[in-house]
Amino acid sequence: MAVELTVNGRKRSVDTDPAKPLLWVLREDLDMVGTKFGCGAGLCGACTVHVDGAPARACQTAIGEVAGSAITTIEGAAASPAGQRIAAAWVAQDVPQCGYCQAGQIMSALALLNQTPKPTDADIDAAMAGNLCRCSTYVRIRSAIKAAAG
Ligand code: FES
Repeated sequence: MAVELTVNGRKRSVDTDPAKPLLWVLREDLDMVGTKFGCGAGLCGACTVHVDGAPARACQTAIGEVAGSAITTIEGAAASPAGQRIAAAWVAQDVPQCGYCQAGQIMSALALLNQTPKPTDADIDAAMAGNLCRCSTYVRIRSAIKAAAG
């Protein structure tokens, strides 16, 4: 079945099983491998993308559910001013250690700043609670979000 959607501002059509997770459509059908597979069970946040502006777990989102939606992935994150500020803050504060979870971290941070430009610590904790980091970069992530918020 052909599923139409917009990914990072570009209209795409994917001929696939509508039950296939968005994560694997991005990685396998669209060759966009920035979105990572961590747990595959909605528990780690590594696969976070935006669906119509809201953060979503791509491993838990069937492609058929998001037909007609606008998807933003890490490859498109820097298209917005907030995304550029986040990218600059992540580099300046040397946030990643192994880096595997960071695409998901950045997409959750970007969704937060898009909705709440000046987040409190509690806002940051609530928005980022679902994104796990085995290297425990949480302190630098919070600092980078604050820097990006200005
Ligand atoms: Fe989707 Fe872990 S891979 S939440």
